[in-house]
Amino acid sequence: MAEHVRIFDTTLRDGEQSPGASMNADEKMQIARALERLQADVIEAGFPSASQGDFAAVKAIADEVRECQVCGLARAREADIDGAGQALAGAADPRIHTFIATSDVHLRAKLKMDRDEVQELAVAAVKRARKYTDNVEFSAEDAGRTDWDFLCRIVEAAIDAGATTINIPDTVGYAIPWEFGDRIRMLRERVPNAERAVFSVHCHNDLGLAVANSLAAVENGARQVECTINGLGERAGNAAMEEVVMALRTRADHFGVDTRIETTEIVPTSRLVATVSGFVVQPNKAIVGANAFAHESGIHQDGVLKERQTYEIMTAESVGWSRNRMVLGKLSGRNAFRSRLAELGVHLKDAELDEAFQRFKALADKKREIFDEDLLALVNDQVTRVAERFRLVGLQVGSETGKIPEARVTLEVDGEQQEATATGDGPVDAAFKAVAGLVDVDAELKLYSVNAITGGTDAQGEVTVRLERGGRIVNGQGADTDIVAASVKAYVHALNKLVGEAPAERPHL
Ligand code: KIV
Ligand code: ZN
Repeated sequence: MAEHVRIFDTTLRDGEQSPGASMNADEKMQIARALERLQADVIEAGFPSASQGDFAAVKAIADEVRECQVCGLARAREADIDGAGQALAGAADPRIHTFIATSDVHLRAKLKMDRDEVQELAVAAVKRARKYTDNVEFSAEDAGRTDWDFLCRIVEAAIDAGATTINIPDTVGYAIPWEFGDRIRMLRERVPNAERAVFSVHCHNDLGLAVANSLAAVENGARQVECTINGLGERAGNAAMEEVVMALRTRADHFGVDTRIETTEIVPTSRLVATVSGFVVQPNKAIVGANAFAHESGIHQDGVLKERQTYEIMTAESVGWSRNRMVLGKLSGRNAFRSRLAELGVHLKDAELDEAFQRFKALADKKREIFDEDLLALVNDQVTRVAERFRLVGLQVGSETGKIPEARVTLEVDGEQQEATATGDGPVDAAFKAVAGLVDVDAELKLYSVNAITGGTDAQGEVTVRLERGGRIVNGQGADTDIVAASVKAYVHALNKLVGEAPAERPHL
């Protein structure tokens, strides 16, 4: 039997710390459900003491998720730990993750404490967390740059205090694989009580080495990897879960370990996270990029047709890409629609299914072939919906070579239909100006991105619009075969988010 490596997913905590990737409570819940289908061992649902919104989101996830451990992050402070304990009270298997920085530069410049003081706080934090649960994780922040002797000392003390998981973060993405692997082996060999805890790693990707460092750690005895879907996370991100999992699965001959991840859920989960966060997946991204399994060269195509293993080390189906991508059309019925969604891991309640089916029919009128990607975009559109103060009713655009583009937009604003016309540099610019003229929201456009969901000129465009107002950032999404309509939908979606849910102020970690 291969030894088990736990997958600790921190998309909802470290992933959400990416500038611009903030998610509302509903979106977090959708992602938590997807992570449960994916069978992550631990879901780090958030940082409950960061804000009331974070507390509520962690609590809601803890109350619902039953098949994964649900974890809340807490600094080594009493109030943080109590907040995490309370948010997790309803969890089937709650975990409190407490941390304090241990590298000299953090002690001197950030904490202004000496090593003994830091160790004392770490021990007190672990002991306090144990009042709420037996499942306590301790992280030595910036462990990748921490003095080896002090790291051994604080890890031993944390285990003695009751930590059952010891996490060694490479917080700043500074490590290189063989050195990081040595660090894990050294800890397991030198810390006298090391066998009483599971060693975990949490690698950032500043040098593009997060996955390699995580794998080196596994090779040296780490049995938990902290990672995020699509590698989302602070700065250059965290280790990408799909890459770690598929490396361990595909090279089981080398690592001799496995995870419990249901790999066919990887692609749908990746899509959901990309849509919600507004962080589009690059086409050549391993495992989940659109080209990850596309063979373009004739020699490769010929080889794959003769024997797939000539150029494929894993199958596209094993990670959730479907073999037959053309799935449904205008004549497809509700049952075919429902069962295709189920095959894609999407299970809707009856009322949601009715609505999705109507939208599918409308799309099928415009687009002859509906692909899996179209279905997922359609459903994601429903998932990310928010209360609508503004609703797009009509759009008319005029764009002709040599003439100034013009757009007329009809919106329902607080239940009342209003219309505005504007000109702009292009049809999207004109339409956005018309919308801005109808809504009294002073927001700055931070990102506008268009992505074709499938190939062909009748493909749906998926647009993300990121807006900022007073330090608060939201992402809006829209999909349509008409790019200008998709853009306006995304803009209106972002505006509705901005005027909706209250902002979540966060202390700096
Ligand atoms: O990168 C880091 O050190 C963290 C800790 C809070 C685990 O995210
Ligand atoms: Zn981190």
